[in-house]
Amino acid sequence: MPGSSAARTTDVVVVGGGVIGLAIAWQAALRGLTVTVLDPAPGSGASHAAAGMLAPVTEVHYGEERLLRLNLASAQRYPTFAAELTEATGRDVGYRQTGTLAVATDADDRAVLADLHRFQLSLGLTVELLTSREARRLEPMLAPGIRSGLLVAGDHQVDNRLLATALLAAAVAVGVDVRTDRAAGIVTTAERATGVRLGDGDTLAAGTVVLAAGCWSPQVAGVPTDVVPPTRPVKGQIVRLRGPAGFLGRNVRAVVGGTHLYLVPRADGEIVIGATAEEQGYDVTVRAGGVYELLRDAHTLVPGIAELELTETYAGLRPGSPDNAPMIGRTALAGLVAATGHYRNGILLTPATADAVADLLATGVEPEVIRPFSPQRFARERVWSMRVTA
Ligand code: GLY
Repeated sequence: MPGSSAARTTDVVVVGGGVIGLAIAWQAALRGLTVTVLDPAPGSGASHAAAGMLAPVTEVHYGEERLLRLNLASAQRYPTFAAELTEATGRDVGYRQTGTLAVATDADDRAVLADLHRFQLSLGLTVELLTSREARRLEPMLAPGIRSGLLVAGDHQVDNRLLATALLAAAVAVGVDVRTDRAAGIVTTAERATGVRLGDGDTLAAGTVVLAAGCWSPQVAGVPTDVVPPTRPVKGQIVRLRGPAGFLGRNVRAVVGGTHLYLVPRADGEIVIGATAEEQGYDVTVRAGGVYELLRDAHTLVPGIAELELTETYAGLRPGSPDNAPMIGRTALAGLVAATGHYRNGILLTPATADAVADLLATGVEPEVIRPFSPQRFARERVWSMRVTA
């Protein structure tokens, strides 16, 4: 009854039906919990915009070694996770063990690649440095001017859109109530999250609320200021092309003139080219300049793309976080768990996040693997910066 305060009770309500929220719901339901997911458009947003690259090694960055460990653990879980999803739903999720080839197009880019290679080796990662000729032998469509290559045989891909669809089907099949209601706010009782207020005024009571609303997480009302996850939108524009199957055999990455670029080829010939990284607030307008730069740089790398069909331009919002790592686990508000801020690694981190949060929900014990990513790690910095700016 709209507007009534009659509460319906569920063990867990997940705010946000992207791949993270849906996977948590699926895994929590498999552990015997009753789960509701709230999202006006499940599987849309960043889950839909992404390219689906699973590239912990080629995307490693200085200062992010702890994140690398989580990324590697999730990449390792992917084959079984994908197989379990397929078994549960009968749907293929396009998990492909393609490997990734990073290449350099000029002397500056080659220096960047050489530096990345040294860093990867210092971390004990498996990478192979290739000459231009070796790189082009692997990927004949690469431009003749390619300077060098770095082959990461363990960095793969999944079709993020098929993944989102399969997760939704798997969640529903195991009894998750996926509702297109908007979560207007978290309800708190005696300093504990006890449910969610819906857009129509109803209240959904829950033992635990999981906030998995990506870059919109701070906009869910009712969360105490010092508990609000500090996520922000980082716009990414992408382009999709369609070519013959096998046009590229593996993910191809490059830094072209200082800008990161990747081409992710699907089995059916689709190629996803991404992505810009822009601090533009919640704007998802596709701009001519963004599309131009992506196509220009991709063309420098793989000139033959000029002949392919342009099938889609799109923009999505990554949930950025202050240290580029996600917030996963208990918040300082009892009853509220966060699973947000996955920034560039949402698709990659879906299995690890889902397993860990579902275990936490089912047992009450926070798995070791997510402890470095506590949503509470920013609270002290926030108090300090408030003092500095006061
Ligand atoms: N992980 C790819 C991106 O964020 O663009």
